[in-house]
Amino acid sequence: MFSSTLDYLKTQPLGIILISCLGFLSLFKNSTSLLTWLYNIFLRPAKDLRSYGAWALITGSTDGIGKAFAFKLAGMGLNLVLVSRNSTKLKRVSSEIRNEYPDIDVKIFELDFSGDVVAGVSRMKEAVKGLDIGVLINNVGVTYPEAMYFDEVDEKIWMNLVRVNVIGTTFVTGAVVPGMVARGRGAVVNIGSGASAIVPSHPLYAIYAATKGYIDQLSRSLYVEYKHYGIDVQCQVPLYVSTKMASQVAAVGKSSVFVPSADKYVESAIRFIGHDQARCTPYWTHSIQWFFASLLPDSLLNAWRLSIGLKRIKNTINIHH
Ligand SMILES: NC(=O)c1ccc[n+]([C@@H]2O[C@H](COP(=O)([O-])OP(=O)(O)OC[C@H]3O[C@@H](n4cnc5c(N)ncnc54)[C@H](OP(=O)(O)O)[C@@H]3O)[C@@H](O)[C@H]2O)c1
Repeated sequence: MFSSTLDYLKTQPLGIILISCLGFLSLFKNSTSLLTWLYNIFLRPAKDLRSYGAWALITGSTDGIGKAFAFKLAGMGLNLVLVSRNSTKLKRVSSEIRNEYPDIDVKIFELDFSGDVVAGVSRMKEAVKGLDIGVLINNVGVTYPEAMYFDEVDEKIWMNLVRVNVIGTTFVTGAVVPGMVARGRGAVVNIGSGASAIVPSHPLYAIYAATKGYIDQLSRSLYVEYKHYGIDVQCQVPLYVSTKMASQVAAVGKSSVFVPSADKYVESAIRFIGHDQARCTPYWTHSIQWFFASLLPDSLLNAWRLSIGLKRIKNTINIHH
């Protein structure tokens, strides 16, 4: 039906003009999207994040992406509250930052999100009372020690995933957002994952992907709820970044064009904060991968993810093999 209408239009002068206009509009739309993407990724300057407040609070800030955020935000003139589980590492990171940025004030707070997270976050809330926290980076996150079928995931492992990734992020956000509402400004960055936002499924890491799906939807709803209060909520979606976690789940060793170092990744991530996007993939090769993934059928992506997961199963003593 459509092709015969098209064939008919092609024979009419007006039809040729109409088809040309549609073709031009489609080309214009695609080129505009490409130009916007190029601008956002490579040219758009970072916002002055001090306009949100003098302090940034970062969870999981002693390693990987969180540590890179800490250095980058200090470089932009923000004082820091570093929240992580290991006091020796916290002290080391804070003294490294003070050495590099002597004008920056750094506070550390020891909080193990695997423990009593509710009591821990309530102590943290007391400790940061009165601080003008303008930027919150909800970065802390854990995953499986290795690929596993859902029914083989030990209760301790999945309860820990929910405690750290879901309950921890929710309580920390709940502790910080009221101050932002009172001041009428703030930026909340929640670190999601390609595991829930890009691929249609993440077999053998199902609970990790589900916790990141929660982060994604929480962020997108809070983005709408708090926009009018001057608070920019955003879910940033990395694919692989060369960190301890990536080496654990994907044997990613060195960084490469598709697997940036945490510093390189954060350099891009910083430039997305406060720009009007509830969800973004800040690193350029990650968004290229996302684009190509979106062209493939779900069934193909599902089969590909499952085959990767199966290759990663180290423990063969289970009922599935
Ligand atoms: N790396 C990737 O490829 C990738 C891809 C997609 C999404 N992500 C997400 O990015 C975020 C950061 O990941 P990453 O790769 O940077 O991880 P990482 O290198 O393993 O660093 C995680 C940070 O969180 C801290 N942490 C872990 N468990 C904790 C707990 N129970 N209580 C308090 N702090 C804890 C770690 O402390 P210690 O220094 O004491 O270990 C470390 O500072 C996570 O939310 C992750 O899901 C990462």
